[in-house]
Amino acid sequence: MVESFRAFLVNQTDARFTSGIRTLTLDDLPLGEVTIRVRYSSVNYKDGICSLPNSRLVTQYPMVPGIDLAGEVIESQDTRFRSGDPVIVTSYDLGTGHFGGYSEIARVPASWVVPLPEGLTLREAMILGTAGFTAALSLQRMEENGLRPDSGPVLVTGATGGVGSTAVAMFSQLGYQVIASTRKESEHAFLRELGANEIVSPDELVLRDGDSFANLPERFAGAVDPVAGKALPYILNTMKYGGCITVSGFTGGPELAASVFPFLRRAITFIGIDSVLCPMSIRAPLWQRIARELKPQKVLEHIVQEISLDQLPQTLERILRGDMRGRAIVRL
Ligand SMILES: NC(=O)c1ccc[n+]([C@@H]2O[C@H](COP(=O)([O-])OP(=O)(O)OC[C@H]3O[C@@H](n4cnc5c(N)ncnc54)[C@H](OP(=O)(O)O)[C@@H]3O)[C@@H](O)[C@H]2O)c1
Repeated sequence: MVESFRAFLVNQTDARFTSGIRTLTLDDLPLGEVTIRVRYSSVNYKDGICSLPNSRLVTQYPMVPGIDLAGEVIESQDTRFRSGDPVIVTSYDLGTGHFGGYSEIARVPASWVVPLPEGLTLREAMILGTAGFTAALSLQRMEENGLRPDSGPVLVTGATGGVGSTAVAMFSQLGYQVIASTRKESEHAFLRELGANEIVSPDELVLRDGDSFANLPERFAGAVDPVAGKALPYILNTMKYGGCITVSGFTGGPELAASVFPFLRRAITFIGIDSVLCPMSIRAPLWQRIARELKPQKVLEHIVQEISLDQLPQTLERILRGDMRGRAIVRL
């Protein structure tokens, strides 16, 4: 086994914050039953926040960020995993309280490890990563609530981002009519390639004086919302009867001003999505479903940009500016 390897490390002391590529040894890694040769990681909005000074998400320093990784097991003290097994690790404390995916070698608790399902490569697993898993979890929760392709259009906000772009592609692949909301006029063609049937600007998704569910049209049977902010009150008031909203993020802001009327009069369901503590009994079968039918077959390569560890700092800055198009994966 290699003795030293490269990783992106952030450190915060009272006096100063540092970040950059460092050489680590196996002794630097945290405890865990499974040691993994990481092949790919990915860049999520949360990774951007973890790379900032005094990040509210990093629970201890120094830290190797990276909430996603995929690679091969080097050695395992847990008999469920053997040397050479391809595996995915996302969520839990990975990259926030436990060294994460921006490292050529990682060591993690066995309870976090998902065997790579048949039908998915390590690279594909990271093109989807936490963002794609969150999109899939949203889709599944909405289906559990009765959503079907003939229920009506599904709105996806932040459509050019990680959760948004993977949601557009997955819903489209299953035959849903997808309305994509983006601030980026330059990316309309990209969203159509992913399968969006209609594209709207978030400026259209804002309540004006006097607007309420009673005088607005019923537009959406479902909504996948990783943005929240100003659009969410509008979305609530324009859902079709029995519609369902999944909220997974707040790049547009965390506050929500709403009345209970759309819930009561239109029987709307509002579902919070959490990928971090999603139980393994849901997580592992959902990765299998992703491999089987949700992986966007035709457009996966359109979504991705592959970067090296050295290109990571500028990509983390980009995601914090809301400037991403699809997903960035890190090759290690
Ligand atoms: N609940 C969970 O388990 C879970 C899992 C994954 C992610 N998340 C959360 O979901 C959100 C998206 O994550 P991501 O990794 O997909 O990020 P991302 O790739 O940066 O995508 C976010 C998208 O939101 C839009 N956006 C950014 N800033 C905005 C602003 N100020 N106002 C309005 N829209 C803005 C942009 O889309 P357009 O330019 O196309 O409008 C951007 O591409 C984050 O809040 C993240 O923490 C939660």
